[in-house]
Amino acid sequence: MITRGRVEALFGLEHPIVQGPFGGGLSTVRLAAAVSEAGGLGSFGAHILEPEQITKLVAELKAATDRPFAVNLWVPQAGETEPAELAAHIDRLRPYYEELGVPAPGPVLPPSPSFAEQVEALVEAAPPVISFVMGIPSPEVLAEAGRRGIRTIGTATTVDEAVAVEAAGMDAVVASGSDAGGHRGAFLRLVDESLVGTFSLVPQVADAVTIPVIAAGGIADGRGVAAALVLGADGVQIGTGFLATDESGASAVHKRALHGPDARTTVLTRLFSGRLARGIPNRFVRELRPYEDAVPPYPIQNALMLPIRRAAAERGLPDLVNLWSGQAAPLTTPRSARDYLEALVADAARTLGHT
Ligand SMILES: Cc1cc2nc3c(=O)[nH]c(=O)nc-3n(C[C@H](O)[C@H](O)[C@H](O)COP(=O)(O)O)c2cc1C
Repeated sequence: MITRGRVEALFGLEHPIVQGPFGGGLSTVRLAAAVSEAGGLGSFGAHILEPEQITKLVAELKAATDRPFAVNLWVPQAGETEPAELAAHIDRLRPYYEELGVPAPGPVLPPSPSFAEQVEALVEAAPPVISFVMGIPSPEVLAEAGRRGIRTIGTATTVDEAVAVEAAGMDAVVASGSDAGGHRGAFLRLVDESLVGTFSLVPQVADAVTIPVIAAGGIADGRGVAAALVLGADGVQIGTGFLATDESGASAVHKRALHGPDARTTVLTRLFSGRLARGIPNRFVRELRPYEDAVPPYPIQNALMLPIRRAAAERGLPDLVNLWSGQAAPLTTPRSARDYLEALVADAARTLGHT
């Protein structure tokens, strides 16, 4: 036992370690189940899935493990559906469509799945835990989850967001520092005013709320787990470290990049999706850097980039694909999720002098 046991008791875990969900297609049932079977909380990022795919996913996860697991959704933010004048944005990306030989998107972009329908399907399917990012779902959704015995986790990038997650009645809060890989989940202030590093954020959140705090961002080995617990967290959520494991859905080029020299200096960029996210700099990021503030918001830029990202990923071209990564990627090593989780627990205990 290396903690006060609040996260373990809340979710029914052996270890206070959550495998962070990966949206955008990098989550796998295999990874989530492996983490849950090893005593942590495996998660699956479902924000791009249609409602019927979510129903099927929860059934697959339940078949793969008897242990608790979490499914994650993105709460939509204001302005996401506003139409934009696309021509200039498509022209900016035209050289990349041409280089990859993929057609540029037409003037009407495919609609994203409806959050209302996604969350209805998810609550109906009743996974043990649902986690949310980018905002707080409605009181009705949280009440229905509560009635069905589903635990809920909210994600905060600032102290105010953590207080709002607690006030909404959610069971635990992820304090996500700006060191973290993937998208920033700011929802109360502009994202540029919500970039608090993990070391600063976690103790302030621990002081401000009474629900269990799960630290995220830049934690990749036992020293990071120990530090988060000393800072007042009840548990940790690790994304990049689990992305590097055998069971993750990251491509071979992505996994290689996590251990390459550019992973030591990740960047925050809007270029891939229209929403700020942390990843490894590559040719695309370097060439389009002057347009960081000119690209259209999520989900428009995301849809415009999809053909480029897909073609580059299929062909194994790291230069044009989003290589999401947190700042601690170089601390990770390729291995199985179980080996990784067991090493995190043993090394954290040793660091804290609990062996
Ligand atoms: C590829 C990738 C995709 C992610 N997608 C999501 C997501 O859909 N929802 C979410 O709540 N967090 C998402 N995250 C954040 C992770 O779940 C986790 O909180 C974060 O990676 C922790 O920081 P670390 O990367 O430094 O370990 C993503 C992270 C990565 C690296």
